[in-house]
Amino acid sequence: MTVPTPSPVAFSPVAHPLRRLHVVTWGCQMNVYDSTRMADVLAPLGYGPAASVEDADMVILNTCHIREHATEKLFSELGRLRRVKDARRAAGARMLLAVAGCVAQAEGAEILRRAPYVDIVLGPQTYHRLPEMIAEAERAGRAVVDTEFPPESKFDHLPEAALPGGGATAFLAIQEGCDKFCSFCVVPYTRGVEASRPAAAVLAEARALVAAGAREITLLGQNVNAWHGEAPSGGAWTLARLLRALAEIPGLTRLRYTTSHPRDMDDELIAAHGELPALMPFLHLPVQSGADRILSAMNRRHTAADYRRIVERLRHARPDIALSSDFIVGYPGETAADFAATLTLAREIGFAQAYSFKYSPRPGTPAASAADQIPEREKEARLATLQDLLATQQRDFNARQVGRRLAVLITGRGRHPGQIAGRSPYLQAVHLAAPETLIGREIAVTIAAAGPRSLAGAWHPSPEEHAAA
Ligand code: 5AD
Ligand code: SF4
Repeated sequence: MTVPTPSPVAFSPVAHPLRRLHVVTWGCQMNVYDSTRMADVLAPLGYGPAASVEDADMVILNTCHIREHATEKLFSELGRLRRVKDARRAAGARMLLAVAGCVAQAEGAEILRRAPYVDIVLGPQTYHRLPEMIAEAERAGRAVVDTEFPPESKFDHLPEAALPGGGATAFLAIQEGCDKFCSFCVVPYTRGVEASRPAAAVLAEARALVAAGAREITLLGQNVNAWHGEAPSGGAWTLARLLRALAEIPGLTRLRYTTSHPRDMDDELIAAHGELPALMPFLHLPVQSGADRILSAMNRRHTAADYRRIVERLRHARPDIALSSDFIVGYPGETAADFAATLTLAREIGFAQAYSFKYSPRPGTPAASAADQIPEREKEARLATLQDLLATQQRDFNARQVGRRLAVLITGRGRHPGQIAGRSPYLQAVHLAAPETLIGREIAVTIAAAGPRSLAGAWHPSPEEHAAA
């Protein structure tokens, strides 16, 4: 799942920062999590948040290689930062410039060639080594590159998450990398082979997040349902077993996990959706295409019928489960009939929300060199058709909530004064007029209206609830 716009990272304030850090994050939730952890690594060195880029002693661009034009976007941002860096130097100040994430991993050498003013290039596996890299860059006065896949796990070398406190929702990375090698995807090359964190480490981090105020935790991984970590007492656990253990943590009322592969939706995990009330009735399960020919060319290792069967079984276990997905249109060789099969699958399943993309070649992946690339205009037309259908499904799904009372976890203030906002069990944004003292609590909200991407609700508290708010 991707968040295409860059966003500043929220990290825990250092009381009196000696140095100021600005982190820009592109891409998926894993990158958002990584940015927070890089800030955690740098906190002991006295780094706190910068008010702006101009004010920063260090800027980290945490990049994503999945979206189109990722490299060009990076170089244009670097060009802008170079001017800021020069202006700071002219004023007698320094600015360390680091490029992190998947573009750094894939294009480290190219970055140094085209942007020699970059000080540090680091891949997603090495950010625990940032303090050494900074010392080295400062000492040697030349660029430091670390895009290895090191033998040690970064998770074992990170400080305890410096918890922001108060956040009702939190991410927790439990798995990284991917061995699936879908023909279009760079992740196995940039994030490396699949690795799972031990259950004890995950449980400890979850308890700490709950102690700091989290009520909902989203477990993260590129292929999260392939998680198979060391059990606390030896042996190995599956994700379903881990979810059962997490569901027992007092105060942790909501669990989610993303992103999953259909191949790894095992019986136990499907059953967990019916057994664990804390496991929210929403699942992001990318299908990519509804045509078996294309799924096979994509090396997805599942058919459209497999996907339909999984959904059927999930709905049997948890009848109200809402589904989300990723689609790629215009994969090399995709015919009009293949695309029609994708539309049929989407129509049959009915998604609560979904992401859809035009196929875009990624250097080094098998699909990039396929001969039968689809013309851009055709890809655009197919994407528009699919997005129309998915937007209608999302609007319909939202409209079906009107009149229902949903448990909404209040996550913060709303857009307008007097408003607060939260999320429904189905991951919809919900806005309502109610006191800010409800932030961090789960309350029952009557849904009054639905928009294309969010819901509006009303809170009718009992006298006791009112007094407690
Ligand atoms: N072209 C288009 N979409 C892609 N995705 C991954 N690689 C590509 C690519 N080369 C999409 C997939 C994946 C999501 C995160 O991004 O749908 O599930
Ligand atoms: Fe990429 Fe496929 Fe792995 Fe997902 S499962 S990260 S699409 S290779």
